[in-house]
Amino acid sequence: MIIAVDGPTASGKGTIAKRLAAHFGVPCLDTGLLYRAVGRQVAINEGDPDNPAEALAACAFPDELLDDEVLRTEESGGLASRVSVHPEVREALFKRQRAFAEQPGGAVLDGRDIGTVIAPDADVKLFITASVQSRARRRWMEMVDKKLDHEEEIPLSEIEKDVVARDARDINRKDAPLKAAPDAFVIDTTSLDREQAFEMVLETVEEAL
Ligand code: C5P
Repeated sequence: MIIAVDGPTASGKGTIAKRLAAHFGVPCLDTGLLYRAVGRQVAINEGDPDNPAEALAACAFPDELLDDEVLRTEESGGLASRVSVHPEVREALFKRQRAFAEQPGGAVLDGRDIGTVIAPDADVKLFITASVQSRARRRWMEMVDKKLDHEEEIPLSEIEKDVVARDARDINRKDAPLKAAPDAFVIDTTSLDREQAFEMVLETVEEAL
């Protein structure tokens, strides 16, 4: 059983994917972390994330980097969205994601192109979304809660701008842009809290299986 969970930044898809995986007892892969690790490795190499060759070289990041808290920062998210534009980077990360999806017991993967590129054969495809304002607010609250980046003082308006920029880059890139697969269930969580969102998702998945 493969469940594909796609959606824009701060849509809550990561939390939903983890909870689905725990519910069904299967492993979960947050594919954004792979792109974040590549972006971070470019920075470690003092390279340019917009240069395809330098971004490709950074795909040979050490696995331990995936556990580094720094990958959760806004800065790492921004770097990830820049390196993820390059087809050679996407190609380099493809096999690893595909292998995860194909493991015998099933898997949940979350990202931007799981239902369209990585696992077009997924049993259930979800596209989790919410308004820009509510996603920016959630991201801001999360930053304040976790004191990530040591930047609690970042104004909400800045986060909103970042969300809009990230959406534009993910939606408009040529290779594997962010979009719902034609057979995906689109779930808008703008007016739902976490619990309500998960309930709606679980109901959808159970009906679809
Ligand atoms: O999901 P997360 O915010 O961690 O993703 C960071 C960035 O990585 C996204 O903005 C997107 O550009 C890129 N990404 C992608 N394809 C995926 C997952 C993430 O292009 N499957």
